[in-house]
Amino acid sequence: MERTIEEINEKALKELQAASDHEAIKALFTRYLGRKGLVTQYLRNISKLPRDKRPEAGRKANEIKRTLDKAFKEALKRRLSDTFEKDKEIDISLPGRMTLQGSLHPITQINRQICDIFEKLGFDIVEGPEVETDYYNFEALNFPKNHPARDMQDTLYVSDNIVLRTHTSPVQIRTMERQTPPVRVVAPGKVFRCDSDVTHTPMFHQVEGLLVDENISFGDLKGILTTFVHQMFDERTSLRFRPSFFPFTEPSAEVDILCVMCRGKGCRVCSQTGWLEVLGSGMVHPALYENVGYDAARYTGFAFGMGVERIAMLKYGIDDMRKFFENDLRFLRQF
Ligand code: PHE
Repeated sequence: MERTIEEINEKALKELQAASDHEAIKALFTRYLGRKGLVTQYLRNISKLPRDKRPEAGRKANEIKRTLDKAFKEALKRRLSDTFEKDKEIDISLPGRMTLQGSLHPITQINRQICDIFEKLGFDIVEGPEVETDYYNFEALNFPKNHPARDMQDTLYVSDNIVLRTHTSPVQIRTMERQTPPVRVVAPGKVFRCDSDVTHTPMFHQVEGLLVDENISFGDLKGILTTFVHQMFDERTSLRFRPSFFPFTEPSAEVDILCVMCRGKGCRVCSQTGWLEVLGSGMVHPALYENVGYDAARYTGFAFGMGVERIAMLKYGIDDMRKFFENDLRFLRQF
């Protein structure tokens, strides 16, 4: 049996009430008021009614069409403002979530600062292998066979003849084998020693320096290192050259700087001496020239080597070297 317009209306309103979202309301609109919708069809069929019934039926159907149409539009509007209200529950005054920004490790930063200073003084940056032969790490650097540095207690051996380099000095030999003077290089890199306490870690970083040419004197060594220290720390930081011994330099000197904490008065950091040891240095031993085929009568030069962690600890006032390698972000974020 054909449904009356009242029945259609009632059903439409009920379904509209149950419609949960925007899409459902739109679908219902099409079902009732669209071009082939139930209300539209009803209106179209009025022409088939007996002539005297048509005016009344048309009036009623048109009125229902109008109110239904209004009901649908209102339902849609309400739905939209509901969503809008929900959006407003996001409190845009709350602070945002920070994205963490990475940064260079303090050792990388100091390493770059050191290399930058020497680059401006005309030095090239070179590198060498971390796993070295006994020859480059010791033999060619004039270490006698029974030298205590070759002891297992200090050196990490890979095999009889292969070691993890204990210093960056083998790069001196590799550089001189590759090129003829003038040589002016710095070699940054990792080194390894069987050692671990507050001021020693089994792996640490060094920067090696080597300058070889005609007429190079100890005065040149002092000049370059003084310039370096003044740029790395400040002009008030004086240097002290203390006689020392390395198999590959002669004469050799340990370089101390005026304590950056107490300025020479004596404190815990400098063990009350007022001075801090920062690097080893000296004039290249003629035996090395022989090993690489340089004319020892013609060329002289100097070399130096410093620990990057040591410089970083002094610059930042850090008392435990192991902190650099613990990867504690609370520590690393401060640089
Ligand atoms: N290689 C030495 C060390 O590790 C430092 C050094 C380098 C000394 C160059 C003299 C010249 O202690």
